[in-house]
Amino acid sequence: MESGSQVIVPAYTFVASTLAAVHQGAEVVFCDVDSRTYNLDASKLERLINEYTAAIMAVHGHGQPADMEAITAVARRHDVPVVEDNSQAHGIRYLDLVTGSIGNAAGASLNQSKNLPAREGGLFTTNDEEHVTTVRRMVLYGEDVLGPRSRKRGNKVTERWGDLTSDGLRR
Ligand SMILES: Cc1ncc(COP(=O)(O)O)c(C=O)c1O
Repeated sequence: MESGSQVIVPAYTFVASTLAAVHQGAEVVFCDVDSRTYNLDASKLERLINEYTAAIMAVHGHGQPADMEAITAVARRHDVPVVEDNSQAHGIRYLDLVTGSIGNAAGASLNQSKNLPAREGGLFTTNDEEHVTTVRRMVLYGEDVLGPRSRKRGNKVTERWGDLTSDGLRR
């Protein structure tokens, strides 16, 4: 993230949501929450967005989906990406979607206190191929390493890292 970048985070969330932004060297800008849902209040978002805003983080707190329709509408108007913190809302539906699949990317904790626990670890989800490549490199020391079921046809590589886990479980 560029120096001076800001990430808008709901004023009520677990501290780790903010630390993700701090870890990237960003300044955290707190946005007030809705008094009924305790999630990000989209009506208070717009006035916090400026030229330094690098992302809006929507947290789905306590299994309650944030108002993604309103949040993404504001974000689109300002061309700001939305990152979902889906740590407390695995498998939660929002309209005809599932949380963690609505913004540009999402993170979800799998620690032992979560509804979907794996003792530790987490999930990253996105529909953006570029983010997929970046994140794969991040977890593999910058290397482009193919998964066990990746295929190369001509110049095109079909990567199947997702299958690593599901295959492992099936066997
Ligand atoms: C909303 C939220 N974000 C992030 C985290 C951090 O997850 P982890 O402990 O896996 O880093 C948690 C839980 O710990 C959480 O509840």
